[in-house]
Amino acid sequence: MDRSQNFNNNMKAKKFTFYLLIFLALLVIWKLSVIESGIDKLQILKESLELHKDKLQLTEQQVLLLQQLEAEKHHQNRPIIYCITPTYWRYVQRAELTRISQTLKLIQNIHWIVIEDAAKKSDIVRNVISESKLIATHLVAQTASFEKFKDKNPKAKRHRGVEQRNAALNWLRDNLVLGKDKGVVYFMDDDNTYNIKLFDEMAKIKKVGVWPVGLVGGLNAETPIVDRTTGKVTGYRSGWLPNRPFAIDMAGFAISLDLILSIKNANFSYEMAKGMQESEFLSFFTTKEELEPLADQCTKVYVWHTRTEKPKVSGIIPGLEV
Ligand code: UGA
Ligand code: MN
Repeated sequence: MDRSQNFNNNMKAKKFTFYLLIFLALLVIWKLSVIESGIDKLQILKESLELHKDKLQLTEQQVLLLQQLEAEKHHQNRPIIYCITPTYWRYVQRAELTRISQTLKLIQNIHWIVIEDAAKKSDIVRNVISESKLIATHLVAQTASFEKFKDKNPKAKRHRGVEQRNAALNWLRDNLVLGKDKGVVYFMDDDNTYNIKLFDEMAKIKKVGVWPVGLVGGLNAETPIVDRTTGKVTGYRSGWLPNRPFAIDMAGFAISLDLILSIKNANFSYEMAKGMQESEFLSFFTTKEELEPLADQCTKVYVWHTRTEKPKVSGIIPGLEV
């Protein structure tokens, strides 16, 4: 009796262990499958996150692309700005031209007209223009020797850029058609410093636009004086002869191409008194009352009449062209 009871108990314990093992095995299998599906879920989640990340990036690109398309549409309606730059050889010439050509690269719808004060075109200027990939016209016009001769006399001041700017005006009048070609003409000396915002201002010009010029005439800036209520120019703050009809530096105005093409006799001249080139030139086109004050009613300085120091070069390293 004892033996058979013992046997029965043993059997029960074995059965119990067997079922327990099966249960535990099932439990382990179930747990593993839960973990597995968790990993699967995590994987799916990670992949969809990547997908969204890509989508997000795409959206950012799409926004940029849209902005670019919008800007291009805007620029198509923008007038071409003809920037007229007289230039002459000195050690800093390539540096100056590199600087302004790279400023112009930041602006749409530019046509750069570079006029060398030289008998023939130089490789320096040719190379700066071709490297810039700007739409450009390269001309030459030499300053009359009687005028250049005045440099020998430190007291005699002479006109600069006269022949060169006239050559550019002739080019415009010979190559563009009144009514068909639209644009703005700006005299952009090679040594000044230009904020790209200035060119947005120029795009608004109907006839003649004006704005302040920094670091000129012995002042921190020269500027047309604007009546805030009428928005008209009433006079000028200028370091020199503020009562000139237009007391404005060459860098402080731009003129519509229509006006330049329609008033064909408007040119610069050695006959004009020293410091009167701008005023006399502007008198061909407009009156003080008609001027269009730009740069936030002439309250912002977007161009500086900087002048680069003449470097002292006492030695030449062969093979290096500056
Ligand atoms: C100031 C004005 O800002 C100039 O626009 C004006 O032409 C000049 O006075 C003037 O006296 O007529 P400033 O700094 O004295 O400027 O003149 P520069 O910058 O030396 O010359 C004006 C432009 O003419 C420059 O683009 C320069 O490269 C060019 N230039 C100068 C020549 O082509 N040949 C020269 O012999 C001298
Ligand atoms: Mn200058």
